[in-house]
Amino acid sequence: MNDYSKQNGSTNNPRGVQGGGSVFPRGFLWGAGSSSYQIEGAVNVDGRGPSVWDTLCTRSGAIVGGHTGDVACDHYHRFRDDVALMKSMGLKSYRFSIAWPRIQPDGVGPANTKGVDFYRRLTDCLLEAGIRPFVTLYHWDMPQALQNRGGWLNRESVHWFSEYTRHVVTALSDRVTDWITINEPQIYINLGHNQAKHAPGLAMSLREQLLATHHTLMAHGASVMAIRGLAKKPSHVGWAPVGRVDFPVDPGSPECVAAARANTFAVDNLGHWNNTWFGDPVIFGHYPEDGLKYYGAAVPKIEPGDMELMKQPLDFYGVNIYSGAPVRLGANGKAEAVAHAPGHARNALSWPITPECLYWGPKFLYERYQLPIVITENGMTNLDSPDVDGVVRDPQRIDYTRRHLLALHRAIADGVPVNGYFHWSIMDNFEWAEGYKDRFGMIYVDFVTQERKLKESAHWYREVIATNGATLAPAGAAAPTSAAKV
Ligand code: FCB
Repeated sequence: MNDYSKQNGSTNNPRGVQGGGSVFPRGFLWGAGSSSYQIEGAVNVDGRGPSVWDTLCTRSGAIVGGHTGDVACDHYHRFRDDVALMKSMGLKSYRFSIAWPRIQPDGVGPANTKGVDFYRRLTDCLLEAGIRPFVTLYHWDMPQALQNRGGWLNRESVHWFSEYTRHVVTALSDRVTDWITINEPQIYINLGHNQAKHAPGLAMSLREQLLATHHTLMAHGASVMAIRGLAKKPSHVGWAPVGRVDFPVDPGSPECVAAARANTFAVDNLGHWNNTWFGDPVIFGHYPEDGLKYYGAAVPKIEPGDMELMKQPLDFYGVNIYSGAPVRLGANGKAEAVAHAPGHARNALSWPITPECLYWGPKFLYERYQLPIVITENGMTNLDSPDVDGVVRDPQRIDYTRRHLLALHRAIADGVPVNGYFHWSIMDNFEWAEGYKDRFGMIYVDFVTQERKLKESAHWYREVIATNGATLAPAGAAAPTSAAKV
């Protein structure tokens, strides 16, 4: 069930997309995102407890330049200015996350009123500005006190997360109607529990990684139930996993498309870079067969009721997609990786730029899970700095975003219901282990003075939003063609 479709036009043309051009469906949610630890700062203010990220930042060598999130964008104190900038960009929606250790400094027990009040002030300010708050409950900052009790390895984490959700929903659901339970479990399991690069900075056995995953997925389900049970208004509930996309280099060949689809939904590496080990339990209530074989004895013991808990009805499938991998049809009929041409476009973290991912990703995911898609993250890091005249020119980000949005538009024109797009990020921020080195924002932040400045991409995005995408299509461009129909 989703009621965005009601905003999306007539039943004859449910997505409201006109043939050709680049106008998006009516009611399309144009947004941008952030997360608590990456922007808030104020780590010791108003009773906030320490999170696993505060702890990791004290570990020597863990973060580029020894940076920390102690101050970050000081958004905790400057949120009104930041919301004013969002309003000036014409943003329809803003995705942000709640810091669990602000709500429950020790991870359990009653809600900390001052922490709750911050998010009430923030959401009120957004609503006054006409911006719809899109709330993520978990974007990686688990209270350290819970990590000391095993974190996601402890089966109690399901209960902890449910209790925390109940506090947040009780406090905010009179004004918040859009909820994301968990952001990118693949990343905090792999980088946080396997490679020790992200919090909680552990290198555990595969068995333990899969146990932490199992509890995460159950916690997601328990959280959805808590939202459904307590929300004061009709709500939209989803989540925001990583979207792995393998896309066909020969979209005219059904065999190549089928091979790319099969790869997109394969469990074939130990780094958790997959869709289905996470998505299948949440949508279908079971782990995928190939994953069960691949992980073998490392698969956790499944207690009665576990899989049922994971599978809760969702209103949308949120997905974070930055890049995809080109594949061709191999001699064995299976997908084969294709190397990028020398000099292929990349972002400042060297991630290849592949706009096709925003066509094939939503298309494949919709085919499999049959839920409206929300692009919960997409964007690029770039070496931005003010020019001598003070203007921050970021043409690469404009080009990246334009190409990806055109690809997304093509998916919509082919019949994929896509309800929104959240650019990552609204502003430059603490990019985890990369510290402040990487700038993903449409708003430039001077981390010495805390001065903000709209980059050229922010001005450009304002036009895109104001015209509902019409200005995306380059002048004189032909109407987008589609390679395949959903
Ligand atoms: C995603 C994270 C987000 C940000 C972007 C660049 O993996 O969800 O917080 O770091 O990447």
